[in-house]
Amino acid sequence: MLFSKKQKKTRETYHVPTHIAIIMDGNGRWAKKRNLPRSAGHAVGCDVFERIATYCRDLGVKYLTVYAFSTENWKRSQEEVLAIMNLLRKYLDDAVNTMEKKQIRLRFFGDMSRLDADLQEKVRQAEEISSRYTGFQANICLNYGGRDEIIRAARQAASKCMAGEWTLDDITESSMAELMDSAYIPDPELIIRPSGEVRTSNFLLWQSAYSEYYFTDVLWPDFSPKDLDKAITAYNGRSRRFGG
Ligand code: FPP
Repeated sequence: MLFSKKQKKTRETYHVPTHIAIIMDGNGRWAKKRNLPRSAGHAVGCDVFERIATYCRDLGVKYLTVYAFSTENWKRSQEEVLAIMNLLRKYLDDAVNTMEKKQIRLRFFGDMSRLDADLQEKVRQAEEISSRYTGFQANICLNYGGRDEIIRAARQAASKCMAGEWTLDDITESSMAELMDSAYIPDPELIIRPSGEVRTSNFLLWQSAYSEYYFTDVLWPDFSPKDLDKAITAYNGRSRRFGG
């Protein structure tokens, strides 16, 4: 990839985070402004995800985690839920066919059991086929909620204790981290939320303990590599003390 002057500066001047997470927000408002159905905003949002993932890979980011569908998003209209699920279907089909070229490992966070069987199978296939790519990993959160993830991990810990495999002392920060969907992946240093909303919305509750947040008014379908550069620049101006 050819970098613009500004992008070269981002790579050369700043510390690029190992793990960036993004709440892809603002698709509905972007569509409304243009008198388009909300699904049109999600479709552009999906293309923007691809563009930003490629840019992150080229910058040297190792992990990108995005919030695609939350445990609460089922409350949206049936039409909108179906449109998002169909976008994911299409994305997964394309991803499987273009993996060799893109060299992106795909992982999915969340409870896949509520997804349609064909979608679960596509997720499984995409994870399996892409597992050989080690340079860059995109984690897509699907039917994901931070509280739900912690509950699922707590249940696993409780059943290990009940089976006599663990004692209470085995429940530690590091053993619990290994029961999260993000097991063995470093916590995100930077979490970006576009669209002007300033809240975490149940995203990566466990992993965000010391993350730096970056909020911008730009709507996700308008989010560009330049906006990512701005977020990385802002992150570089923060002093991270981890409570010390
Ligand atoms: C939030 O914007 C966005 C979503 C709930 C869905 C995001 C889904 C995609 C971008 C497609 C996912 C596909 C892949 C493969 C990553 P909103 O609808 O809440 O926007 P609003 O706040 O303006 O209404």
